[in-house]
Amino acid sequence: MADTEPTPALEAELQATFGPHLEALCARTARALEAGGFSGLLVHSGSALTVFEDDRTYPFLAHAPFKVWVPLADVPDSYIWFKPGSRPVLVLHQPRDYWYKPADLPRGYWVRHFEVVAAADAAAARAALPADLSRAAYIGDATPELASWGLGTVNPRDLMRRLDYDRAAKSPYELACLRAANRLGARGHLAATRAFERGASEFEIELEFLRACGAREQELPYNPIIALNEGGAVLHYQVLEKRVPRERHSLLIDAGAQFAGYASDITRTHSFADADFRALIGRMDGLQQRLCARVRAGVDWRDIHLAAHEETGALLREADLVRCPGEEAVATGLTRVFLPHGIGHLLGIEVHDVGGFMKTPAQGEIPRPEGHPYLRLTRVLEPGFVVTMEPGIYFIPQLLEAARANDAQANRINWPRVASLSKFGGIRIEDDLAVSRSGCENLTREAFRAVAAA
Ligand code: GLY
Ligand code: MN
Ligand code: MN
Repeated sequence: MADTEPTPALEAELQATFGPHLEALCARTARALEAGGFSGLLVHSGSALTVFEDDRTYPFLAHAPFKVWVPLADVPDSYIWFKPGSRPVLVLHQPRDYWYKPADLPRGYWVRHFEVVAAADAAAARAALPADLSRAAYIGDATPELASWGLGTVNPRDLMRRLDYDRAAKSPYELACLRAANRLGARGHLAATRAFERGASEFEIELEFLRACGAREQELPYNPIIALNEGGAVLHYQVLEKRVPRERHSLLIDAGAQFAGYASDITRTHSFADADFRALIGRMDGLQQRLCARVRAGVDWRDIHLAAHEETGALLREADLVRCPGEEAVATGLTRVFLPHGIGHLLGIEVHDVGGFMKTPAQGEIPRPEGHPYLRLTRVLEPGFVVTMEPGIYFIPQLLEAARANDAQANRINWPRVASLSKFGGIRIEDDLAVSRSGCENLTREAFRAVAAA
């Protein structure tokens, strides 16, 4: 079992930074409530969903707006109540159940900043809240009992947008959590790589990843993408094949861990024994690092995405995958055949974090560049934003088929070269970056260094 307890140094950092973080969260929530004319905010953790005609439930994942307040991912039917000027209240659902174990009262660096009230059922939860909630905003599921709670507004869109917008820039506390999530993820990746090298199946590689992170699947921020060979061409490959393939060419692993509710999102690609594919991974690594070097506050993320396509055009040419200059590969849409997804996204409580398109809370959305429908971030970077940088090239049969039917593209592709590389699926390299005024901190590479040195 992995030792995933925070070190004393991290524990001290969390102790020191959570208070100021919560103070800032309270202040911005108070401003948002005031702008909407609300007296307070009630946030629901969510309810466990039952399988159709069965009595077991799907894995419970707490709603993100609840995890914004407390690092509790596994407590259904609980609430945060925040009234500006008062200490936030955690109403923790603690049923008198003997079929399932009720949640323990929480402990840790954050608990002293909350008033914690245990509630055995919905009536007790309601009784723990102010009698008059008619001017309060509620974020969460419209549960059956809600109708009788006398709440002002359920899921008010403008308020939620404002709160989402503010989540992009992370506090020192959040950066500490994101660094820790990256260290856990790096440990998982190193274990997964060793499993690949000794011939494990996709499923066994996942087990090694989980063991090294000290996590069960539902505690990860997303389902790991663990693809051997041509599976790497499926962008969110989900199979986890239990059989070992006859031949072993490559591993594309996109897997992250969670710490205190914050996610890491990390991808590495490995060649088993092929020097040519290994060299191509090396080229992609260089490309990724050049893109990382462009990241700093004030940069429009759309420009980074478009720069990634210029870089990809040059790489396709150098790797002899296309028979035209890089600029032509961009102009004819060829780079989008090989790189169909966005170059990165905001990261935080959610792996694809909220607010990626917002001009301001009140104004509309910033559009994606024409022809790039999958980009998830269009904002200008600010200090404290955490983003992923995840360039790649893939040999995707559906997109290559379409390119074969496109005159402008078909003649420019080196088809024999593509055919010889297709068994590797594709390459993606993904790091998490914390933006600053002068550049960025690469949380992922730092984490790999720290884990290797430990
Ligand atoms: N792991 C999903 C992504 O990289 O966006
Ligand atoms: Mn990502
Ligand atoms: Mn990823």
